[in-house]
Amino acid sequence: MTTNQPAPPPGVDISRPSIARVYDYMLGGKDNFAVDRQAGEMALRITPDGPEAAVANRVFLRRVVRYLVAEAGIHQFLDIGSGLPTQGNVHEIAHEIDKSVRVVYVDDDPMVLAHANALLTEAETTTVVQADVREPAAILDHPEVRKYIDFDQPVGLLLLGILHHLHDHEDPAGIAARLRAPLVPGSHLAISHFHNPGEAHPDAARKALEVERIFNQTLGTGRWRTHREILVYFGDLELLEPGLVPFAEWRPEAVQPPRQTDTYYTFIGGVARKR
Ligand SMILES: C[S@@+](CC[C@H](N)C(=O)[O-])C[C@H]1O[C@@H](n2cnc3c(N)ncnc32)[C@H](O)[C@@H]1O
Repeated sequence: MTTNQPAPPPGVDISRPSIARVYDYMLGGKDNFAVDRQAGEMALRITPDGPEAAVANRVFLRRVVRYLVAEAGIHQFLDIGSGLPTQGNVHEIAHEIDKSVRVVYVDDDPMVLAHANALLTEAETTTVVQADVREPAAILDHPEVRKYIDFDQPVGLLLLGILHHLHDHEDPAGIAARLRAPLVPGSHLAISHFHNPGEAHPDAARKALEVERIFNQTLGTGRWRTHREILVYFGDLELLEPGLVPFAEWRPEAVQPPRQTDTYYTFIGGVARKR
């Protein structure tokens, strides 16, 4: 992880930490500033395995995208809360299998837009839009989204690591429902979300609450929800096997089971299909 302080792109506020940049720090990226690293370090004091959780989420993303393109027939993705470009972006993973797959990245962080625009060279298939998930209609009606995504065909809707950044009063369930609404049968929804495992893993649950407090203090968001609360976001879509589970348990490819550290239980994911 770097300690250099690169110049921020225009519009980027480096007096306060940003979710995208703290996550980039956890992933060992270089698109973060001192204020982001400080916020990240505060959380790492409680759960030093935070970087493992971030990497596990990206490995989950990779398996999900490969599954959706290779096995579920998805040729277009709407990736909301896409994050800063990192190793193994959705379009790169999809294009390993099918170069015609279209991807629209959506994020509200200006740094994401600046970096994604600089890196995206596959304009025919891939684009990035700056928008807020709390305004789902603005995303679904966005001209760029309409240009790349044909809502008469199945869509892979990715809500990875984003719904836990919505407060309860912002109605994440209603927002997820509005984003699911235009999906035709055969579409898929993937979600990853901070998880409070409760009594099943009390030590991990206690640490989740502590990190939740730090996130809200530093970033102003972050909710570690219960399994039941997260399931609601899939609505009436059919949850695929093995369900909403720790990342390493979702259709694992690794022969060696991973270490079951605290965050093993506190960041989970699943995929569902519209019937
Ligand atoms: C933890 S990162 C997840 C990145 C990527 N989806 C992944 O799972 O690896 C969360 C992303 O959601 C974005 N985000 C947070 N709140 C948002 C909002 N209200 N609207 C759009 N994007 C948001 C952040 O800027 C950040 O890039």
